Amino acid sequence: MAYVVTESCIKCKYTDCVEVCPVDCFYEGPEFLVIHPEECIDCGLCEPECPIEAIKADDELPSDQIEFIEINAKLADVYENITEAKEPLPDADEFKDIQDKKKFLNIEINNDESNQNITENSNTILLYDNGEIVINNSKFKIDELSSTDNIIFENTLLDNLNKENQVCLNVEGKAYHEWAMKIMEFLQKNQFVDVQIKTLK
Ligand code: SF4
Ligand code: F3S
Repeated sequence: MAYVVTESCIKCKYTDCVEVCPVDCFYEGPEFLVIHPEECIDCGLCEPECPIEAIKADDELPSDQIEFIEINAKLADVYENITEAKEPLPDADEFKDIQDKKKFLNIEINNDESNQNITENSNTILLYDNGEIVINNSKFKIDELSSTDNIIFENTLLDNLNKENQVCLNVEGKAYHEWAMKIMEFLQKNQFVDVQIKTLK
């Protein structure tokens, strides 16, 4: 068993939950936090901390939130670890009572280990632990994030991705969370609407 962050957290991110977790197993994306199911020790401390009751035990989820077990597991491999509370998202109070927020996550989780779900009309971004990023067969070497010019990086993505097509972001390991976050934020900001994330083994 593990605890799961559900849909209510999307567009809010109050982050009271992360302060109490004894094993620091929360991970943060642009719109949402997740719990790593293999790191959660099931202590239950975080559940009452969330002001909008977004955290539930996986065996107590309402039926329409069961898919968040898989969403937490997949995104925990891509998002960045968060261990300290921060300001909620600016519109958190406006979004806290909205029910249908999964559409704002804007990411489909592809559970298929093979590439068979990737259609001919797919953009593919491969992000490897060894520092390589491959965007539609063009290979780049990742250096320090801080020393990379943002405009050059964003133009590289725009030059190599077809906006009409689905984007499949494949991430290996945890070393490049910062890059995965940066790419996801870019895709959302630029309204690439159909994005899939896979974790490479
Ligand atoms: Fe962390 Fe405990 Fe919440 Fe799991 S149940 S996420 S270990 S505080
Ligand atoms: Fe989300 Fe609630 Fe934590 S809104 S960030 S689960 S406190």
